[in-house]
Amino acid sequence: MNRIICDEYEDLSRSAADIVADQIGKKPDSVLGLATGSTPIGLYEELVRRCDAGKIDFSKARSFNLDEYYPIMKNNPQSYNYFMHEHLFSKVSFSSARILDGETDDPLGECAKYDEEIKAAGGIDLQLLGIGVNGHIGFNEPAESYSMPTYHVKLSGSTISANSRFFTDGEKPPTSALTMGFGAIFGSKSILLLISGASKAQIAKKLFEGKIHTGIPACLLLLHPNVTVILDRAAAAEL
Ligand code: PGA
Repeated sequence: MNRIICDEYEDLSRSAADIVADQIGKKPDSVLGLATGSTPIGLYEELVRRCDAGKIDFSKARSFNLDEYYPIMKNNPQSYNYFMHEHLFSKVSFSSARILDGETDDPLGECAKYDEEIKAAGGIDLQLLGIGVNGHIGFNEPAESYSMPTYHVKLSGSTISANSRFFTDGEKPPTSALTMGFGAIFGSKSILLLISGASKAQIAKKLFEGKIHTGIPACLLLLHPNVTVILDRAAAAEL
């Protein structure tokens, strides 16, 4: 894994934007795998700035998002659909932007269709990832075995409680989600993993021990030939 350590979160976001810009520069119709969470927000802000300045153009690019809560309405401010529109898609225009449908009444069919669409698009060129404090990737939670296809997953207690901070007014956080499995993630030609903040220092340390801890989904990334990890200093504190 290539490792880049930045001083601050803002530097991490700029460095990640350089990698995305390079990908789009080389291949304007790239297929990007996008992620949600607090970590990529600075990257999306930087990409919007660069688009506004005419330095990058996503009009030929296609995107697939990693995951979505299930069930959830698209107009729920906690849905990942809402997040992506707020942070990126309302400001930058992509040729197509696909997000798993949290409103579907056929979650299994939706997952199968998603994998077919990714395949038909030629696979993902650059997959952006965050990481959970428990090492989850997308909503691939620590488990004994991991799904290759996109699937409907029950969330772990630690993820539900980490995400409950966003759900207010008595609204219960969803306990399940639809997520890309390791097939689509590993099929990606390159992977960009962003790790920010002191709360991720322990999991970053585990990841860079160079051992495949099977209970830590992110460790499987050690097997992928083209992964770049960008950390800020707080996340890299234990390395
Ligand atoms: P975060 O989430 O960016 O909000 O820390 C990452 C994740 O849980 O995958």
